Amino acid sequence: MSVAGVLGTGSALPEKVISNADLEKLVETSDQWITERTGIRERRQAAPNETTSTLSAQASRRALERAGIKPTDLDLIICSTISPDMPLPSTASLIQRELGAHGCCAFDLAAACSGFLFGMTVAEQFIRNGASKYVLVIGAELLSRYLDYSDRTTCVIFGDGVAAAVFGPVDPPSGILAHELHTEGQYAEHLFIPAGGTALPASCQTVQQGAHFIKMRGNELFKVAVRSLEDVSRQVMKKAGVTAEDLDLFIPHQANQRITEAIRERLGVCSEKVYSNICRIGNTSSASIPICLDECVQSGRLKRGNLVLMSAFGAGVTWGAVLMRW
Ligand code: UT7
Repeated sequence: MSVAGVLGTGSALPEKVISNADLEKLVETSDQWITERTGIRERRQAAPNETTSTLSAQASRRALERAGIKPTDLDLIICSTISPDMPLPSTASLIQRELGAHGCCAFDLAAACSGFLFGMTVAEQFIRNGASKYVLVIGAELLSRYLDYSDRTTCVIFGDGVAAAVFGPVDPPSGILAHELHTEGQYAEHLFIPAGGTALPASCQTVQQGAHFIKMRGNELFKVAVRSLEDVSRQVMKKAGVTAEDLDLFIPHQANQRITEAIRERLGVCSEKVYSNICRIGNTSSASIPICLDECVQSGRLKRGNLVLMSAFGAGVTWGAVLMRW
């Protein structure tokens, strides 16, 4: 049985920055409201010629180079996204082609903001049981393509971004120590895109009604998010026999700075150990945790031997946590 760990990370952000002041020109909002209620000051927006797969390929090349792995060495590519290039084929297939990673298996995984942790967990199973040696996991979202820029309850929150990590066998004590994943479908309509699928196929009417845009019941989600993130973080630490004091770094999903602060307080993690980039990046759903991870690796914030907890919550609703020794 092999222990799975991260061999390299990479990210790719669109160049265009959308500030709160830019949004003030589009909807009835203010920099003060957005900053105080969410912690977000700016977010990125993809250019028309950028897609989920093209940005994913950029992030993946960086991760592969840092891992010292060739695309053709990959056994599996998992792309976690709820904003694919198109309904068919999978974005993972397009990334595989773009990377020239011939011969490996590739598929998409849809677990929204928890998706990267779901993907990591799948990768870990494949590596641990020997079915795969090298697995590329990507968290990729171009949510701007699904945003209604006249809906102030969603357009101020979400942003675009992609990050990837190469997973492979590592020597203990490094590697994934414990994971925990959950889904509760009864809250499915708290965050959803009503049209464009089999329930409500795309039509002139769905476009006129804006039913292909993201709809969110933010307030209801907030309460479920805080409760679930606390529970799952405790579960995963208990599984690994560690406490909040043992953590070197806590990377929560970047949904809202107030959610991060609430979880931090409930878990009793000191502020210096919590990573946050929401002010610069906004909420990038499944890309949120891997972007943070890559920033921590590149800046030297995450060092070999560090104990890192990652916890996420998102549409579905889904939630999960992964604890790793770097
Ligand atoms: O990524 C994972 C899933 N997503 C989440 O976990 C999101 C969780 N939820 C949140 O982060 C917060 O609920 C939001 C940031 C989305 C909203 O913040 P809130 O403090 O919960 O606001 P609210 O929905 O309770 O609305 C309070 C007021 C309302 O006005 P009234 O009814 O009190 O007059 C809203 O209409 O704020 C108003 N409002 C805004 N005002 C200015 C809502 N959005 C805006 C806005 N600018 N952008």
